[in-house]
Amino acid sequence: MKFKDFKGPLIGKDRVERYVKSLRRKDKIKRIYHPLIDRILSERIQSPRRILDLGTGPGFLAAEFARKISRASVVGLDLSPDMIEYAKTFIENKSLKNLDFVLGDAQEIPFEAGYFDIVVSHGMIKCVSNVRKMLGEVYRVLSEGGCAYLVDSRRDVSLEEFDEVTRGFHPIDVEKSRRSVNKSYRTDEIKAILDEMVFKDEASIKVKGLTFEIKICKSALR
Ligand SMILES: C[S@@+](CC[C@H](N)C(=O)[O-])C[C@H]1O[C@@H](n2cnc3c(N)ncnc32)[C@H](O)[C@@H]1O
Repeated sequence: MKFKDFKGPLIGKDRVERYVKSLRRKDKIKRIYHPLIDRILSERIQSPRRILDLGTGPGFLAAEFARKISRASVVGLDLSPDMIEYAKTFIENKSLKNLDFVLGDAQEIPFEAGYFDIVVSHGMIKCVSNVRKMLGEVYRVLSEGGCAYLVDSRRDVSLEEFDEVTRGFHPIDVEKSRRSVNKSYRTDEIKAILDEMVFKDEASIKVKGLTFEIKICKSALR
């Protein structure tokens, strides 16, 4: 089995198929997306109107948001035309009228400032070449009072933690997870980047299992 580099968009229909298979084998929707969505929604007082999933890949996280909050408009954005095509085909006949997929770069988000109440991202930070630019863009498109939750694997995970989380995974997925961890940022590297951002006082980072989560909440009192 060959693994390509993680940087940049995930191009190629066969790679997309393999990615989706692995995502389903790992039961990512139930194990990861549902708890993430429930936690995000429990933290917010008002109902979000617009939600952005950055680096949406096959669009499953975006689709779960759209299903859960039918009054919100949800956008899944990805730099890979193959992923966007897959995501669009996947939601055909699913009557999710509040969900759209857009081809675009997380480092130059094609939406106006303040447009989204929630920005999420899962597994994409290690893929972008300029994390500072991406974080700046996330902050720009957040509405006042809006929050971003950006989750990715972390390189500073211990062997014990890695074995614990990947126990029961298919061997291919253990190898994929190992490579993902090895290509990712350390939590202290991301913290150092966040500390350079002008919105550093509105950002925090925490660690859970194989991942870190950056949370950015744009102050409503600006
Ligand atoms: C590891 S996949 C994660 C997909 C999905 N979020 C998930 O949870 O399974 C990373 C995705 O980010 C996309 N990507 C990479 N660089 C990007 C960029 N600069 N802007 C937007 N998407 C990007 C890739 O095409 C790929 O679909």
